[in-house]
Amino acid sequence: MSLNTALLRETFERAKAENGGIESLGMSFYKRLFEKYPSVKPLFHTPPEEQHKKLMASLGSIVAGVERPERLLPYLHAMGIRHLKYKTENAHYGAVGENLMAVLADHLSKEGEWTQAMADTWQAAIGVVAKTMIEASDNPEAFKDELIEHGYELDGFKRGDPAPWIERTTMSN
Ligand code: HEM
Repeated sequence: MSLNTALLRETFERAKAENGGIESLGMSFYKRLFEKYPSVKPLFHTPPEEQHKKLMASLGSIVAGVERPERLLPYLHAMGIRHLKYKTENAHYGAVGENLMAVLADHLSKEGEWTQAMADTWQAAIGVVAKTMIEASDNPEAFKDELIEHGYELDGFKRGDPAPWIERTTMSN
């Protein structure tokens, strides 16, 4: 596997700084997703202007937590379990991953370079994220104790936390 954590961080910092920043990346993500995969559009009820902030914040948490699996794994398990409520299917992860790779490549090619090494590390990271989320959504029962230990409800939400997509521990420590 070619998950180069330094390169992952560096490219995410560039994504925030280049080509209109994270907002433009996030908006492009949903524009392309709905054009290329129109069948997933009805699953989304939050408008892209809001939804992209959540997705980008979750990517920020993932990038920040990539070297702290003890925090990142429960966070991803809970997120996978929350997606059961959104009626996503395992087969959709390929589309979402392909879409993220395409918009990242486009975004980072505008003012700088998008290299094969960058593509490899993002592909590896997205693969791990998808696999970890699916593992939990396929068998939420098996993650009950972990959810409770990390302050989540059994549906993956957090009582009193309106933004569970932000993993505050990995970001602040
Ligand atoms: C790379 C994996 C993914 C990540 C990091 C991700 C991230 C997020 C985040 C942060 C939210 C906000 C709500 C929450 O955290 O519970 C969300 C909601 C949602 N996601 Fe994902 N997601 C992923 C995969 C998918 C896939 C494969 C689908 C299938 C189409 C999907 C569809 C949705 C839908 C429908 C919502 C709810 C939107 C609404 O509120 O209307 N996600 N996702």
